[in-house]
Amino acid sequence: MINRKKIIAGNWKMNKTQGEALALVEDLIRDIGKFDEAEIVLCPPFTSLSAVSELLSPVPNIKLGAQNMHEAASGAYTGEISAGMLKALYVRYVIIGHSERRQYFHEDDATVNRKTKAALAAELRPIVCVGETLPEREADKWKSVLETQLTGGLAGFGDKELADIIIAYEPVWAIGTGKTASPVQAQEAHQWIREVLRKNFSPVAADKIRIQYCGSVKAENAKELLSQPDIDGALVGGASLDARGFTAIIKNACLK
Ligand code: PGA
Repeated sequence: MINRKKIIAGNWKMNKTQGEALALVEDLIRDIGKFDEAEIVLCPPFTSLSAVSELLSPVPNIKLGAQNMHEAASGAYTGEISAGMLKALYVRYVIIGHSERRQYFHEDDATVNRKTKAALAAELRPIVCVGETLPEREADKWKSVLETQLTGGLAGFGDKELADIIIAYEPVWAIGTGKTASPVQAQEAHQWIREVLRKNFSPVAADKIRIQYCGSVKAENAKELLSQPDIDGALVGGASLDARGFTAIIKNACLK
């Protein structure tokens, strides 16, 4: 059996000023700065990346991520940020195609594909988000939705690219709603994602790739979710905004 190191990322979304971000990171360094049982990633807003990067530079086990990027290397794209700009701040991960980007900023699978390519070219590790909406789940279309998003978003990729990609499964109906997919529902979806990758891309990459669960993860449900065989971590929104809550998720989920 392949041993996939758990990866827990905090997606702060549009929360925290730079001062608030630094206070949270100081607490996290104190609590989990030496935690080695999982890979830990923090994704603050763009405005705090530089300061947080500096604070994290002597802390090898907590890595920096961004929440989005533009696909072009540079140019006349007012308000946008490129992969190279992130890389220069020692950002290592970038979330691509989060359901909020798809819903409010009209990103589709083709956008996800272009951004993922640009991230890989800049040596960032993309966290590619996929997931079905409530009507799609209720109509029992979640399998085909996930398959379309994966084959479109990852089109043209092989073993080499997939080795640096992380997938986040986010049932959209569980994002920020307090509703969580049951461990059985989540495991079923993760297993399907691996099967789609095996069938359409590569059996080797499908076994190795890490798939995070995303959607109302908290200290109370983290252990059960992350003990499922195909769940390799979590992308945490609301509960990552507080040091105690995020630390408890990491410790509950990853300590034996
Ligand atoms: P949530 O958000 O944990 O607040 O549901 C997760 C996410 O959207 O990344």
